[in-house]
Amino acid sequence: MPRALVLVSLVLLLLGCRKDERAEAPPPAPSASATTLAQAVQTPEPPPGDPEKGKGLVAKFECNRCHEGTGLEKPKLDQDCVRCHQEIHAGTYQASASSLSKWQKSIVHFRETPSLASIGGRLRRGFIEKFLLEPHDVRPHLDTSMPRLDITPEEARDVAAWLTSSATPAPAVALEGASVEKGGALFEAKGCRQCHEYTGAPRAALPAGVVDLEGKGERMARALAPDLRYVRDRMAPGELVRWLDDPKAQKPDTLMPKTPLTPEEQRDLAAFLLRAELAPKVGKIIPPRLPVLDRKVTYEEVSRRVFRNTCWHCHAEPDYAIGDGGPGNTGGFGYRPRGLNLAEYEGIQAGYVDDKGERRSIFSPMPDGTPRLVYAMLARVREEAGQTDPVVRGMPLALPPVTPEDIQLVETWIAQGRPQ
Ligand code: HEC
Ligand code: HEC
Ligand code: HEC
Ligand code: HEC
Repeated sequence: MPRALVLVSLVLLLLGCRKDERAEAPPPAPSASATTLAQAVQTPEPPPGDPEKGKGLVAKFECNRCHEGTGLEKPKLDQDCVRCHQEIHAGTYQASASSLSKWQKSIVHFRETPSLASIGGRLRRGFIEKFLLEPHDVRPHLDTSMPRLDITPEEARDVAAWLTSSATPAPAVALEGASVEKGGALFEAKGCRQCHEYTGAPRAALPAGVVDLEGKGERMARALAPDLRYVRDRMAPGELVRWLDDPKAQKPDTLMPKTPLTPEEQRDLAAFLLRAELAPKVGKIIPPRLPVLDRKVTYEEVSRRVFRNTCWHCHAEPDYAIGDGGPGNTGGFGYRPRGLNLAEYEGIQAGYVDDKGERRSIFSPMPDGTPRLVYAMLARVREEAGQTDPVVRGMPLALPPVTPEDIQLVETWIAQGRPQ
C-alpha cells in the first residue's frame, strides 16, 4: 500500500499535479518496479530560455538587492537590503554605538538569503524557472521568503537560463543497488540534522555512541539549510552526488561542511534523499480572523505596532532614511511605483496607484466587504498556507504574516473611522 501511494504520487507528479493534490490521490496500483519509476520522477528540463535577456531581467528585478552571486555588481549599500542589515549586525555600519545596538535587537529579517553563485551546478533549471513563478518556503529556519514577483513565464525561463548558464553538468549517476535504508542510517550518523530538516521522511535510530547534534548547527548555516524533502524537485542524481562529495568545490561560499563519505555512502545518501517515501506535506493552518475590538484604537497604536514596525521599510516617505520611498512606494524588485507611503497618516489616507495609474483608497471594500488594506494582510496569511490570491499580493511582501491580533487592531481602527 505505501509503495502504491509512492507510485501514484510519481505518476501524478509527471502529469504536473500540485503537491497537495497528490496527497489526496485515490490509490490504484500500477505494477512497475519502484526503482524504474523513481528514475522517471524527474521531468525532463524545459527548453532553455535566452541567458542574455535573463541577465537584463535580473537587473530589472533587482535580484542583487537580496542575493549575492547574481552576476551583477553589488548595489549601493543604501539599496542592499541584506548587506546593510548584515553590516549593522556585524557592527561595521557607520552609525553611533547606541543606534547600532538598538538596531541589532530589532533587525531579524533580511539578514541572510541563499547566494545564487554556481546555483546551476546544483539546482535544476526547470526548478528555478518554476520557483520564480510560484515561490514556496524551502528553508524552515529562515523567516524571510522569496517574494512573489511580477514576472511572466518567458521572463522566468530567461532568468533561469542566465543563472544556470555557466554550470558544468555533473556526470550521470545511476542509483541501482543503492540503499534507501542505509542512506537513512548515514543521515543520522553523519550529523546532517545539525542543520537540515527532512520533513515527512522516515527516521532511523541514532547509532549507539553517536552524540545527538540535531539543531546544533551554527545559526546562519541552519537558516540557510534547505528542507531536504524538496531535493527530488531541485536536484538530479549526478548533481546531488557531486554536491555530497564536496559542497565547497561546487559553491565556495556555502556553509555546508564537507563530510568524508565513500562513493557508496554518497549513493546511499542520494537514494535516501531522492527516494525515501515521504508523508504528505503538512500545510500551515490559517488562524481564525478575530472580531473587531470593543476598545478605542488610536493611530499611534496601529502605526507603532504595524505600519512603522513592518510596512514602512518598503512603504516609506521618498526622502526618508533609506533615500528612496522603498519598493512599495517608489517601486523596486520589478514592481511599478504604487505610491503607497505607510509611514505617515497623510500617506495612508492618500492611498495607492492602481494598474491604470489612478489613485485609489486602500480602504475601499473588496467584493467580500473587507477593506483592501486588511485584505492584503489576510492574503499573506493564505499565501503561507499555499493559496495564492489572484487579485491582491499578500503583504508584508517576503515577510511572515502579520499576527491575527495586529490585523484585528488595524481592522478595528478602520471600523472606528480611522481617527488620527
Ligand atoms: C542603509 C541600511 C538599510 C537598508 C539598505 C535596508 N534596511 Fe531595513 N533596516 C535598517 C535599520 C537601521 C533597521 C532598524 C530600524 C529600527 O529599528 O528603527 C531596519 C529594519 C528593517 C525591518 C524591520 C525589522 C525586521 O527585521 O523585521 C525590515 C522588515 C526591513 N528593515 C526591511 C528592509 C528591506 C526589505 C530592505 C530593502 C528594500 C531594507 N530593509 C534595506 C537598515 C536598512
Ligand atoms: C526581497 C528579497 C528577494 C528578492 C528581491 C529576490 N529574492 Fe530570491 N530569495 C529570497 C529569499 C529570502 C530566498 C530563500 C527562500 C527560502 O529558501 O525559503 C530566495 C530564494 C531564491 C532562490 C532559491 C535558491 C535556493 O538555493 O534555494 C532562487 C533561485 C532565487 N531566490 C532567485 C531570485 C531571482 C532570480 C530574483 C530576481 C528575479 C530574486 N530571487 C529576487 C529573497 C529575494
Ligand atoms: C553546518 C550545517 C550543515 C550540515 C551539517 C549539513 N548541511 Fe547540507 N546544506 C547546508 C546549507 C547551508 C546548504 C545550502 C547550500 C547553499 O546554498 O549554500 C546545504 C545544502 C544541502 C543540499 C542541497 C539541497 C538543496 O535543496 O539545495 C543537500 C542535498 C545537503 N545539504 C545534504 C546534506 C547531508 C546529506 C548532510 C550530512 C552528510 C548535510 N547536508 C550536512 C548546511 C549543512
Ligand atoms: C518587502 C517590501 C514590502 C513590505 C515589507 C510591505 N510591502 Fe506592501 N507592497 C510592496 C510592493 C513591492 C508593492 C507593489 C505590489 C504590486 O505592484 O503588486 C506593495 C503594495 C502594497 C499594497 C497595494 C496592493 C494592492 O494591489 O492593492 C498594499 C495595500 C500594501 N502593499 C500594504 C502593505 C502593508 C499593510 C504592509 C505591512 C504589513 C506592507 N505592505 C509591507 C512591498 C512591501
